[in-house]
Amino acid sequence: MGSSAALPLRSRRARESDLTFLANRFALSYNDPTDGLGYPRFEDVTELRAELQLYGQALADAFVVISAGERHAGVVGVLGEPGDDVGYLAGPLTDPPGQPIAVRFALREGISLGRDRRHERLIASVQDENVRLTAALKGSGWIRRSSSLEMECDLTTAQPPVPPPGVEVARVTGAESGDAFLEAARLLGEEERWEGPTAEHLAELLDEDYRCDVVVVGGAVVGAAVWIKLPGTSFGRLDYLAVADAARRQRAGSALVSTVLRSLRDEGTETVYLSVDPANAPARALYRQHTFRETIASTTYRYSLR
Ligand SMILES: CC(C)(COP(=O)(O)OP(=O)(O)OC[C@H]1O[C@@H](n2cnc3c(N)ncnc32)[C@H](O)[C@@H]1OP(=O)(O)O)[C@@H](O)C(=O)NCCC(=O)NCCS
Repeated sequence: MGSSAALPLRSRRARESDLTFLANRFALSYNDPTDGLGYPRFEDVTELRAELQLYGQALADAFVVISAGERHAGVVGVLGEPGDDVGYLAGPLTDPPGQPIAVRFALREGISLGRDRRHERLIASVQDENVRLTAALKGSGWIRRSSSLEMECDLTTAQPPVPPPGVEVARVTGAESGDAFLEAARLLGEEERWEGPTAEHLAELLDEDYRCDVVVVGGAVVGAAVWIKLPGTSFGRLDYLAVADAARRQRAGSALVSTVLRSLRDEGTETVYLSVDPANAPARALYRQHTFRETIASTTYRYSLR
């Protein structure tokens, strides 16, 4: 550490001229789990800009730069539309990584940015290997909320398993699918803890390019999966999967996952992502059997701004 470490830390909103620093710093974090974030993660400037566009935010709305004299000492951001209940903390990332004083300073700046943006609470998602940021959050009043494990399947190298024989998978397209649509919505809502009316939620997803496949046994839906091929990308995501309690361990889950993977592969998808609770051993085993590998383990923390 040079003498500049003793300079007082200052903060200001990010400018276009900070973009290279921001992109490089997030890229460093992207490639090093001990410095890693769960969300948001940016591999490069294009991803950073795309995420800002998603929330309709300019660089200066989303990021605060921390400086020590002339030097960039870190960055912190809040993603989210102003007035949304939740804002997502981006970072903080210090330069050099993991400077405890700069991390704490940047965390305070992130909280004040969250207040400026009129959020009710902030969510920070940190990779479990990033012990320094985890300790800083725990020491600054952030409350642990949940853990998640990202999994990924590379369809360019792996062949999706053949769906098990004798388990029929059908597509539900909306209310016109009748009872199957309502039953799928009820099952998914129950198992995946959807809030609010489940049929409306499923209808919204189907309007937004998501697709829903179901397994029907004896005229009743016993399993359902909701997935998407992300428009304009070679990525797909399996977002929801549920099999009714009484129908488990009879390959309905396998039939759904293998059918979804085959549909995505046939549409030119190269990589499929999903996120699972690390404590959910049945789902992890099912996905591993279907050529998914476990990638990023992260934990989310919450900070109330009220
Ligand atoms: C996870 C879930 C979808 C599995 O569905 P399923 O129809 O029972 O799964 P399958 O019968 O196709 O099982 C396939 C493989 O998954 C694994 N698996 C499924 N249930 C398991 C359990 N209870 N314990 C351990 N492994 C299990 C096994 O490897 C199994 O293969 P095997 O039977 O040859 O050992 C189902 O348990 C479920 O709906 N759980 C609640 C909702 C949920 O967790 N969804 C996933 C959210 S990411």
